[in-house]
Amino acid sequence: MSAVLERPLTVAVPATSANLGPGFDCLGLALTLENTFTFAPAPETDFSGCPPRFADTHNLAWRTFNETRASLGLPPQTVALSQTVGVPLSGGLGSSSTCIVAGVAAGLASAGLPWDREETLRRACAIEGHPDNVAPAVCGGLTASFVTEGEVTCLQSDVAPEWRFVVISPPYEVRTEDARRALPATVAHADAARQLGRCFGVVRALERGDGALLGRASHDRLHEPYRRPLIRDYDACREACLDAGACAFWISGSGSSMVAACLGDASAANVLAAVPDGLPVRVLRAQTAGTSIAPCDV
Ligand code: HSE
Repeated sequence: MSAVLERPLTVAVPATSANLGPGFDCLGLALTLENTFTFAPAPETDFSGCPPRFADTHNLAWRTFNETRASLGLPPQTVALSQTVGVPLSGGLGSSSTCIVAGVAAGLASAGLPWDREETLRRACAIEGHPDNVAPAVCGGLTASFVTEGEVTCLQSDVAPEWRFVVISPPYEVRTEDARRALPATVAHADAARQLGRCFGVVRALERGDGALLGRASHDRLHEPYRRPLIRDYDACREACLDAGACAFWISGSGSSMVAACLGDASAANVLAAVPDGLPVRVLRAQTAGTSIAPCDV
């Protein structure tokens, strides 16, 4: 078994939207936007393609690569890491999950291990702390996931092809730590019970392309009420998107990104046009392939 990465390797990891309204820390969806990470053996560590603040050994993908090697009893390897960054850094689209998944996948490959989605997911989830971004990032599509004694269960569901996701990414960051700190330590039993059917409703609606069901199900009491004040454009965006015909409107992950779910291109175009001026916005679809890993030339 080889103990170093001998050839350049590119890992492509999709953006993800976690929670999907009532599926807090459980549901996630891979989207057609990605970050790529090329790890190449090199005499000296080098970083390119990422914002300058990540171009050092604090880089999460680089760190995870060598931490994965360390966990296998292997010494650090110097690599040149070249990134293409498609996923906004302002939060809510799983950009840190892309780094963790890429680092784990490349670290395992550097040890000569074959690509293994389950092992990559188990390790990535242990690093991230919750599975709702890393599960769709690794597996693709719509996932419901949970952890039992360190083992991740990831349930995949189809997404009807007509769904379009209008993704708004405000130019300001909401840090996940801050968004988690905004949550109460306990919730009322009635609120917890109220979520369960709605969480299942979101999955069924996305599977079947049922916009009315998605609208009825997309009412959350576990996180969105506490996080709305952290996203100053939330109220205006929500009202504009729902008025323009979106079936549902969610905070994506812990924000600041937000998602309006629409059926079909025409509806998505209407909703896109209604988003208040000045906010970066794009129309995405569900990505079904998850992470890909391939040798490459640099
Ligand atoms: N489920 C997580 C949260 C996603 O809402 O805090 C963000 O990482």
